[in-house]
Amino acid sequence: MSKVFYLQPDGVEKVIEGTDGESVMTTAVKNGVRGIVGQCGGALSCATCHVFLAEDELDNFSAPSEDEDDMLDCAATDREPNSRLSCQLLLREGSDIHVTIPSSQL
Ligand code: FES
Repeated sequence: MSKVFYLQPDGVEKVIEGTDGESVMTTAVKNGVRGIVGQCGGALSCATCHVFLAEDELDNFSAPSEDEDDMLDCAATDREPNSRLSCQLLLREGSDIHVTIPSSQL
């Protein structure tokens, strides 16, 4: 089990204990986290699951694929160096994840 810390743009944080192997997007949608839409269900074709991953956790994940990188250019909120699509971030045993949700996804 690992926890995902979802920080809203207004500073409100929601902490969810998720299931290993599921994505940060799926965990958010299942638990009603505001601001993560996940319109395409994780098929890398919507960018409505855009998040900013904590800088010190970037190395815990492999770099974005070319498809993810392309989709990030379509995100409603401008991408930053720590932008990721949360459907591509999978929970792993013992590894908490901290993300900030952008102000707009659509
Ligand atoms: S849910 Fe559509 S790209 Fe992540």
